Amino acid sequence: MDMGDAESVLQAVRVLRQGGLVAVPTETVYGLGADARNELAIRHIFAVKRRPASHPLIVHLGDASWVPSWARVVPPVAHQLAEAFWPGPLTLVLRRHARVLDAITGGQDTVALRVPAHPLMRQLLTSFGDGVAAPSANRFGKLSPTTAEHVRSDLGDDVDFVLDGGPCAIGIESTIVDVTTGSAAILRAGGVSKERLEDALNASIRMGATSGIRAPGLLASHYAPRAGVVLAEPSEVRAKVDDLLRSARKVAFLGSNAVDLPPGAKHFPISLDSSAFARDLYATLREIDSQRFDVVVVTPPPGSGLGLAIRDRLTKAAAGR
Ligand code: TXA
Ligand code: MG
Repeated sequence: MDMGDAESVLQAVRVLRQGGLVAVPTETVYGLGADARNELAIRHIFAVKRRPASHPLIVHLGDASWVPSWARVVPPVAHQLAEAFWPGPLTLVLRRHARVLDAITGGQDTVALRVPAHPLMRQLLTSFGDGVAAPSANRFGKLSPTTAEHVRSDLGDDVDFVLDGGPCAIGIESTIVDVTTGSAAILRAGGVSKERLEDALNASIRMGATSGIRAPGLLASHYAPRAGVVLAEPSEVRAKVDDLLRSARKVAFLGSNAVDLPPGAKHFPISLDSSAFARDLYATLREIDSQRFDVVVVTPPPGSGLGLAIRDRLTKAAAGR
């Protein structure tokens, strides 16, 4: 029998207090959470993820009022963005407070902070009362999980407790914004679009890291399914599929429009609307992997709104082959 949500949250808090690992639901993707003040628990996250120590973790907070115990400088632009988008899919990179563990920051002078919006995660953070460090709950370089079932099948017994909050509403990771310079620069496109950030600040925002800041997810193999990923505009799909069928055994097509596909290729429909596309993308790629397709041809949505983050992930996945 399922525990009630309140009981599950209490159990998750107990596991965190004991230094264990809890898979946590957020509105973006599931995280692999641990007490951000417990160095052994943090090391355990890296071991389970098989992630190099040079890739720092996001610390999740219950409220923006917790920021001063994690960051020593909070410039006006950080206040503006927190006010506009927290709780929500936005991560701010700030100058770290001296007490933040090196294990979290990879020894850097900065820390990534986010106040997530998922109601169960908010309850968990409020009951726990301190920061929860959590990367996405997948092995390093693989697809982020968007359901509790994905976490269980990826990590199995390596996670002590899975807090099941249902499927993630956004489905793609948070937008990471560096505010250490006093102005905003997007390090990773994500669940808050560039347009919305610019609207909130009434200014245009740079893409990419300034020197001295490590850019996340630059490894080519990041965000990749097992199947090879090939990007195609709608007019190119048929020719690419035909070409791939000559060499690959099983070819999937992920796109909105019903292209006239040759026998041997299978269509996985997905909405052209970028929010729906983001929500369904990782789950559909997992389904394509579980049906053992060798390659997937994808027509991405337009590059505006969440389309920018989707194109970023798919381009990285395509480069990984
Ligand atoms: O939506 C999300 O952001 C999810 C949920 C669980 O919150 N988390 C997530 O974490 O995607 P992760 O670890 O898979 O990706 C976080 C990225 C990493 O690429 C890491 O390098 C970068 O954030 N990062 C963390 N701290 C940083 C810092 N101080 N400076 C620059 N990048 C940082
Ligand atoms: Mg990740």
